[in-house]
Amino acid sequence: MIEQIKEFAKQGWELGECHGMPHWERVERNGLLLATEEVNTTVVRLFAYLHDKWRINNGEDIEHGKRAAENILKLRDTLLAGLTDEEFEQLRKACELHTVRHRTGDITIDTCFDADRLDLSRVGITPNPQKMATERGAYYAANLNEFYTATI
Ligand SMILES: [Fe+2]
Ligand SMILES: [Fe+2]
Repeated sequence: MIEQIKEFAKQGWELGECHGMPHWERVERNGLLLATEEVNTTVVRLFAYLHDKWRINNGEDIEHGKRAAENILKLRDTLLAGLTDEEFEQLRKACELHTVRHRTGDITIDTCFDADRLDLSRVGITPNPQKMATERGAYYAANLNEFYTATI
């Protein structure tokens, strides 16, 4: 499922690398690094490749989370047919809320948020431990050398 979603995400992508494949691959890597045993890594990996897919520019575009949540509904019976209803709902919510919510209390969704936030250094923003949604996210934001060199 993940390879097909990667292919899908690449198709028609015209906004370059800032929110494109290199970012998505790092978000996937970050998510796997952050994942504790309770985290659903399928959801986290899919989030990595879908959360910014429906951006219309590289600027503010605060609506892109909501747009992603709407658009993945169209993939429910095709590319995302392998997900359980619970997984699909987590993915949908993680996409929808990543632009507007700090933390949800759902460890899978919160891991998605932090995986994305820990890639903020690409745009010159140092990740802030106090703005992370998970303990591991806060730990790695406070220990960036360890974060950059950690292997999964
Ligand atoms: Fe985003
Ligand atoms: Fe992102």
